[in-house]
Amino acid sequence: MVLLKSFFVFFVVFVQSSLGAPPSRKKPDLPKAAYYERIGNSKVFVFKSSINSTVFSQIIGNDKNRKNDDSPFYTVNLGTLVSKFQEWQREMPRVKPFYSVKTNNEPVILSTLATLGSGFDCASKNEMNMILGNNKLTTPENIIFAHTIKPEKFISHADKMGINKMTFDNEEELYKVKKFHSNPRMVLRINVSDQTAAHKLGAKFGSNPITDAPKLLKKAAELGLEVIGISFHIGSGATKEETYGIGIKYARDLFDKGLELGHNMTLLDIGGGYPGNDTDEEISLQKIAKVVNTALDKYFPESGNYEIIAEPGRYFATAPVSVTANIVSSVEIKAERITKKPTDSNITAYSYYLNDGVYGTFACKVADFCPTISSFPLFPKNNQTQYISAVWGPTCSDSDLIEEQTNLPHMEVGEWLYYPYMGAYSIVLATDFNGFERAKGYYCIDEKSLQYIKSRKAAKSDLLSVLF
Ligand SMILES: Cc1ncc(COP(=O)(O)O)c(C=O)c1O
Repeated sequence: MVLLKSFFVFFVVFVQSSLGAPPSRKKPDLPKAAYYERIGNSKVFVFKSSINSTVFSQIIGNDKNRKNDDSPFYTVNLGTLVSKFQEWQREMPRVKPFYSVKTNNEPVILSTLATLGSGFDCASKNEMNMILGNNKLTTPENIIFAHTIKPEKFISHADKMGINKMTFDNEEELYKVKKFHSNPRMVLRINVSDQTAAHKLGAKFGSNPITDAPKLLKKAAELGLEVIGISFHIGSGATKEETYGIGIKYARDLFDKGLELGHNMTLLDIGGGYPGNDTDEEISLQKIAKVVNTALDKYFPESGNYEIIAEPGRYFATAPVSVTANIVSSVEIKAERITKKPTDSNITAYSYYLNDGVYGTFACKVADFCPTISSFPLFPKNNQTQYISAVWGPTCSDSDLIEEQTNLPHMEVGEWLYYPYMGAYSIVLATDFNGFERAKGYYCIDEKSLQYIKSRKAAKSDLLSVLF
């Protein structure tokens, strides 16, 4: 992270100087949007050429400075989202993403992904409505109701909307679905867990693939419920790509058992767990793709006409979103207070208090959804001394601590701190606890990415005409 941070500061200073940026106190010379485009209901700034998220955040920050507006904000770079989608298709061409809506339900992200051809993993009635409600972003077969525990009303709602694919991992759910859905197509979720994952979903979801799953296939057949496939989720924030291979092998065995029982097994759902941060070296989409593609070729060859899907969340949502908050207070302290080392009692350090925090957009901190967040001055200055610093959120809670310990130059009240890679499990979890306002979103794209989205839209039916 320290290396990343040094690189980042260098990069931003480089970008600024290459743009002819004057020293810090003057306004940096920033590019201007060529025009605006509406995607769904969102106003999107369109730039002639590729726009860096940091530079776009600087544009917004600069504009806010001009207007004396210090409210926190986040930016969504749809060009980055398009690149992520293209990377996914390049790396795993046989696997269709069903984006996990819970990760970030910004309407502009949902409509962009729908236009690019993504399906959706919905876990609640409201999530189904976000996709198939007024806007009708896609058609019902592009949705999987991917929650194994479903309120009866949600099951009826799915039926009403024409959503048939849904996951289950226990017998009780089968009875419920049989009663409340007229045409369910069940997907049996098994527990295949990467024990190193930040969020091991196996403790809560998934049947044992060896002992319980075969019995559930049999029970479904007895109840006259069609099981069309197998799903698993190796855990969010996973690090062991080989776990996908293990899951695919289990799924093959269960496909064979299901076929013997008369189920029409056609769908394999390899869940989520794909990293969202490009700088994560432990695991990458490339490493996962190698394992997945090899296992698919072996157990689910193309000739079998299987439908292979995944439920990526943080993979798509993380990188396009950056968060920027304003410094409300900058307090000089002794480093000992941060490091807890008495030997640091003579070292100068700073506590910063921002107007967004872990009860706001940094909510991903609470449940450890964003373990590696790190801030940078939005408008960095050259050659500044770095001080040990802590960064706090605005509320009265002592848990409202965004960064326990980091290194930052001395920053003043009114300056902005910038956090990249912040789109997953952040905005969706934000509250207005203590009365602090939530960050507002700004959206950008470059012309080439916009043309790409439009070309994808042209290849589809009128259904998507609502987007532009
Ligand atoms: C059922 C399901 N699918 C997909 C996801 C998305 O996971 P990730 O963000 O790790 O890709 C989650 C996350 O909790 C989930 O519960």
